[in-house]
Amino acid sequence: MPSLRFPDNFVWGTATSSYQIEGATNEDGRSESIWDRFAKTPGQIVDGTNGDVACDHYHRWPEDIALMKSLGMMAYRFSIAWPRILPNGRGAVNQKGLDFYSRLVDGLLAAGIEPYATLFHWDLPQVLQDQVGGWQHRSTADAFVEFTDVISRKLGDRVKKWITHNEPWCTAFLSYEKGIHAPGMRDFKKALAVSHHLLLSHGLAVPVVRQNCPGAEVGITLNMNYAMPASPSAADYDACRHYDGYFNRWFLDPLYGRRYPADMIEDYIALGHLPPEGLTVCKPGDLDIIATQCDFLGLNYYSRAVLRSSKVPEEQNLPRTVHVAPLSEQTEMQWEVYPEGLRRLLLRLHVEYGVPKLYVTENGAAYSTEPDKDGRIPDTRRLQFLRDHFVAARRAMDAGAPLAGYFVWSLMDNYEWDRGYSQRFGIVWVDYETQRRIPKDSALWYKGVIAANAVDDGSSQAT
Ligand code: FCB
Repeated sequence: MPSLRFPDNFVWGTATSSYQIEGATNEDGRSESIWDRFAKTPGQIVDGTNGDVACDHYHRWPEDIALMKSLGMMAYRFSIAWPRILPNGRGAVNQKGLDFYSRLVDGLLAAGIEPYATLFHWDLPQVLQDQVGGWQHRSTADAFVEFTDVISRKLGDRVKKWITHNEPWCTAFLSYEKGIHAPGMRDFKKALAVSHHLLLSHGLAVPVVRQNCPGAEVGITLNMNYAMPASPSAADYDACRHYDGYFNRWFLDPLYGRRYPADMIEDYIALGHLPPEGLTVCKPGDLDIIATQCDFLGLNYYSRAVLRSSKVPEEQNLPRTVHVAPLSEQTEMQWEVYPEGLRRLLLRLHVEYGVPKLYVTENGAAYSTEPDKDGRIPDTRRLQFLRDHFVAARRAMDAGAPLAGYFVWSLMDNYEWDRGYSQRFGIVWVDYETQRRIPKDSALWYKGVIAANAVDDGSSQAT
């Protein structure tokens, strides 16, 4: 018998995003996105693939909704492709794009599945990149508000949960510092400007969604790593502080009214990423806009970061150990499996930031387990991964974290950005040749969790 129950109104679902599943990139008036351009640039994607077809969800959405229904899903988090709605980035509206999402939402509601719409999951119209440099330019925040207004007016009578941005850290730093996501830049200064314009656009969009969608809840999704020092040395603690500031606090602090973290501004000035005057793209009034109160925060959690100082100062002789997980505890992304980090982050958001309502908007694991000779997919490690993280989340709730729901990444295998189709995160297998979907063991197990609204914490195995 499952032993850990969840509250009655707890929401269980799965998540996807437009570019990763839809395909049909040239259909019904959709324009090019920065991901189309980037994926087709030689050398950017490990297997040289792109999202032209992906899971063909644009055509197969009725089947995908039926699949979710058969698995007992209560909610579905998807994203809206801006280039389908405003092919020129701003201005003329593409009715066919609006109709696609409208049909999808109707289909979900008819199946008893609540839609959670993400407005930006990385597929910026290429035209905005070409014209103004995309998120580097403040005007892209205004364009985002225009897009938000158009789509939320269309869907606002039926979609009551809205997420402005998915993982602004990735949009800013993976894309503009590290250059491994579209548009593939390597310029820290630009990454900082992008991060500010993303946060600004979030704050500007929140009241627009509220106005267009009576009774709606709106929030933002951040990806957070649980950061810890590799040793008790002061240098490693400082490395941890810096990493946490760069990855987590840079976004959380301004969203929760604390302005950008002063220690990070100082660090960035010292490193030459910012001029002595600081973050000059931040104009008077911006911080108030960014701190607009939201209804919830979405947390995407995958792993932790253990920080070791690269400065190796006078403290060299202090213990500098780091827990290295056995290979069996890494997913195929080489991300360490660390459920305890989820518990701690949820509690941190509750205790330190007073977040009124939380969702885990993504959590999941890449394992490539294939169908066996009977067509069954025994993805035991994913199942265990999910179970351990559900238990960790439940423990955080025991300690007061206001967690309202959980979305597994992902409903089905899909296009994993720079990794192409080489990484499979789905609880449903996708055969990319035939587009056949086969629920993996983890999906069948998840169905049981949802039906029982409870998860086995492993204690029954001991008896
Ligand atoms: C997150 C993204 C999502 C997916 C997972 C594995 O960073 O939001 O689209 O790629 O990672």
